Amino acid sequence: MSQPALTSNNLDAFWMPFTANRQFKKNPRLFVGAEGMYYKTADGRQVLDGTAGLWCCNAGHARPRITEAVQRQIAELDYAPAFQMGHPHAFELAARLSALMPSPLDHVFFTNSGSESVETALKMAIAYHRVRGEGSRTRLIGRERGYHGVNFGGISVGGIVANRKMFGTLLGGVDHIRHTHDLERNAFSRGQPENGAEYAEELIRLVQLHDPSTIAAVIVEPVAGSTGVLIPPKGYLKRLREICDQHGILLIFDEVITGFGRLGSPFAVDHFGVVPDLVTTAKGITNGVIPMGAVFCSSDVHQAFMTGPEHLIEFFHGYTYSGHPVACAAALGTLDTYEEEGLLTRAAELDDYWADALHSLKGTRHVIDIRNIGLIGAIELEPMAGEPTKRAFTAFLNAYEAGVLIRTTGDIIALSPPLIIEKSEIDRLVDTLRTVLEALD
Ligand SMILES: Cc1ncc(COP(=O)(O)O)c(C=O)c1O
Repeated sequence: MSQPALTSNNLDAFWMPFTANRQFKKNPRLFVGAEGMYYKTADGRQVLDGTAGLWCCNAGHARPRITEAVQRQIAELDYAPAFQMGHPHAFELAARLSALMPSPLDHVFFTNSGSESVETALKMAIAYHRVRGEGSRTRLIGRERGYHGVNFGGISVGGIVANRKMFGTLLGGVDHIRHTHDLERNAFSRGQPENGAEYAEELIRLVQLHDPSTIAAVIVEPVAGSTGVLIPPKGYLKRLREICDQHGILLIFDEVITGFGRLGSPFAVDHFGVVPDLVTTAKGITNGVIPMGAVFCSSDVHQAFMTGPEHLIEFFHGYTYSGHPVACAAALGTLDTYEEEGLLTRAAELDDYWADALHSLKGTRHVIDIRNIGLIGAIELEPMAGEPTKRAFTAFLNAYEAGVLIRTTGDIIALSPPLIIEKSEIDRLVDTLRTVLEALD
């Protein structure tokens, strides 16, 4: 498709999401192509993708299996009603996905994004208790600094202040445990930090405050991503699971970024050996090619709904595009690509190289912490006095000019390259960052 000529007029209509619109439109950064590890900019430059788009293009860009599957599907069946009708690829995909997850996470509910997966899981959790006769369990527990998308349920259980403060009182009946970030004790940890399992005990305090009979579910990201990569301390997730079990509370893992190979195993569930009751996913499920999400639930949760007269709808929830045929085709092509190329475990093979490369930035100007797990990295910078976020954002702009795409949140640089990255590209990513950081004010 030919590119439209851009003038300040036609930039104006598009209100861009999570973007400094006025700053962007003065000097737009536009991608017009992508292949493998690289984006192509409107001015013809190649930019190394250090972030897999937005943590979603795990197999890199323009992958033939996925492109062909999408093209075929649009021509064959463009849409089928999602309610009271079906199409074969949705069933095939659900079966393949559930085979990737450890038992008992055997059932899959389709959505169109991470935010919708979160809303779906929260509603499923509350409804689960109700269908079992424990309708008083409606309270949801999230965590400070958690990111669970941008819909009302997600920002209510989420803990990112900027995403919450503008939007009124949010959902009632929500509480939060504290985040696990502990620079003082854990700075420059390789992999999971040693200190902080005791932060899980906060959940006991909330259970005592509210009484277990009022609590439906606890939701956490196994590795918090959007807040700037917070890696769970050793033992922390296991302890959350134990406390939930003791009090009949469902545990939800939000695996929107950790799912599909990011940690070196198909899901964080495998990596940490902790099995929750519900898992939310999106992003890497279709390699970012077509919007899609999926919620996995345990057979126990699913079975609780499968009662009553068989002609009645069991769960009054779903989206027009749940299990959209083209999204299913993209996801099947994506799973083929992941499996054929061993991408769901590739991050584990690169783990040492990635960790060595990242931690070689210790001592670089402004760097106060480096964190890594799987193919995720974070470099935390000392904020500029009186101007938080500015230093990292300037690093982002300068890295882009130097041909590398990174992401920043606050004063933290977050890295999550496609799982196809080569060692030489890891070197380039880290060397560019070193140069950019040394030159920063
Ligand atoms: C953990 C987590 N949950 C939910 C979401 C929301 O996903 P989406 O932007 O597809 O709605 C994200 C997005 O980054 C995420 O990282």
